[in-house]
Amino acid sequence: MEQRKTEWQLKRPVFLIGFMGAGKSSVGRRLARKYGFTLIDADTYIEEKEGRTISSIFEQEGEDRFRDLESASLDELSSEPCIISTGGGVVKRSANRAFMKDRGFVVYLSVTADVAAERISDKSTRPLFNDLDSVRKLIAERTPLYESAADCIVNTVGLNVLQISNEVFRILREHNLVTRV
Ligand code: S3P
Repeated sequence: MEQRKTEWQLKRPVFLIGFMGAGKSSVGRRLARKYGFTLIDADTYIEEKEGRTISSIFEQEGEDRFRDLESASLDELSSEPCIISTGGGVVKRSANRAFMKDRGFVVYLSVTADVAAERISDKSTRPLFNDLDSVRKLIAERTPLYESAADCIVNTVGLNVLQISNEVFRILREHNLVTRV
C-alpha cells in the first residue's frame, strides 16, 4: 500500500535571515520540499513584481529604493504562515526587525565571510558582495542587527543544506511552531 507523505503546517510565518551565502534560499527550498511548507523568496518576489533584477534596481534607483520595496514586501509576504527567505540586508531597518519579530518567528542563519564567498558562485547578482575585506566589515556591522532580530541562531559553518534544514526544523518543533496534517 502506498504510504501517504506526512505533511506539516506552520502555525506562524517563519523568516530566514542572515548574510548572503548563509543558505537562506536553499534551506527554505529544502524545508518546503521535505515538509510541504509554502516558501516565498523575498528577492524573487521583488524581482517578479518589478519585472527587473535586484542588480538593475540598485543600478537604476539605488539601494534606498530597493530597501523600500523590501520593507513593503515583508508585510505582503507574511499574511499567511509560510517560510520567507529574506534578503541579507533586511535587518538594516529597525522597522523590519520589529515587524518580523512581531509577525512571526525569526531564524538567523549565521556564516563567515570566507564560507559565504565559497558558497556564492555568481557574485554578479549581488551588488553588495564585493571583496572579502569589505564583506568581513559588512558582516561585523550587521551581526548585532541579525542577533537582535533573531528568535534563534543556527551557525551554518561546516554544515550542509540538509543539516541546516534539519536543525531549523528541530527548532521549529521545539518551539511548537509546526503541526502535522
Ligand atoms: C543583500 C542581499 C541580497 C539582496 C540584495 C542585498 C544585502 O539577498 O537582497 O542584493 O544587502 O545583503 P541574499 O542575501 O538572498 O543574497
